[in-house]
Amino acid sequence: FSANNGRRFFSHLHSQPPPPSASFGIAFDIDGVILRGETPIGGSPQALKRLYDDSGNMSIPYVFLTNGGGVPETERAAELSKLLSVRILASQVIQGHSPFMQLVNRFENELIIAVGKGEPAKVMSEYGFKNVLSLDEYASYFEHIDPLGKFKNSTSQLAGCKKYSSKETDSENGPPSQRVEAVFIVSDSVDWSRDIQVLCDILSTGGLPGREISTQPPLYFANDDLSYQGLFPTERLGMGAFRIALESIYNRVYPNALEYTSYGKPNPFVFKNAEKILMQSICHPIEGQNPLKTLYMIGDNPLVDIKGAQQAGQPWFSILTRSGVFKGKGNHPVYPADLVVDTVEEAVDYILRKET
Ligand code: G3P
Ligand code: MG
Repeated sequence: FSANNGRRFFSHLHSQPPPPSASFGIAFDIDGVILRGETPIGGSPQALKRLYDDSGNMSIPYVFLTNGGGVPETERAAELSKLLSVRILASQVIQGHSPFMQLVNRFENELIIAVGKGEPAKVMSEYGFKNVLSLDEYASYFEHIDPLGKFKNSTSQLAGCKKYSSKETDSENGPPSQRVEAVFIVSDSVDWSRDIQVLCDILSTGGLPGREISTQPPLYFANDDLSYQGLFPTERLGMGAFRIALESIYNRVYPNALEYTSYGKPNPFVFKNAEKILMQSICHPIEGQNPLKTLYMIGDNPLVDIKGAQQAGQPWFSILTRSGVFKGKGNHPVYPADLVVDTVEEAVDYILRKET
């Protein structure tokens, strides 16, 4: 992440006056803290309401720092506003795939593949990538690419799928004639068997079946979460589990080990970027000085949220909730948080009592 990225996010903030003066900020994890599925949990709407003044202006700087994604930040902000009954700006939503926008310069006009639930190609197009194909669309050009497809009773995955490929891809008439230069796993794979098969094809041939390539196209994952909470009582397999499956199979089938880069928490640069965005959201920060003395990370996953905040160091203070992945009575033995509470509402209550 560069400082520019923060400014890009911040540019959305002009429609709302920034908090006048704040000495602390908050980063909220979403799944297992704010929501489970689409259901608010742990008193999240009430907790967030406390971060606004009586006129509905944000008075405490905060962001959502999630490893989830699949829709552009503008759409996620609108969805969250509706679910949580507060006005959330796109600049406050940092998703697992948000850092992908930093790779635009490298792949702006190259053919790239976007994978995952939601609208992965739209996400990448909105970041500025000009030649994006979703894996769904790529696969649709090859009749027998997924022999199991006919046994899957889902409606056509391409139905209603908007095409983002440019004329260079010539996708209206058939499969792309250009080599795939990068693959982005934007959000959780919907169909592991089809996606692993097609990703093996693309990564070993550059997306041109029958061709041999010497270097694998770069592969980027938006996060490496082994599991997440979701709506089911026990945790669900996440993108990290999908990565393990793809990697294990790829490494058995092909001579060269799979190369990839994973983004998202707990990478320290994610916390650094959140810090920049929070700092830019407050009034007139003095150059070279950080007026935000404490940044609170409220998360449910010790290995992701708490480990990340700990690695980021000062000024991060980690708060672990028991409303998601972590369900223990005490603290986590390996990545103990600075504070453990049951819900996000308790966490915000603690912060406001301490800071105001
Ligand atoms: O798919 C989402 C999940 O991996 C994590 O989401 O909000 O807990 O970072 P979150
Ligand atoms: Mg979580």
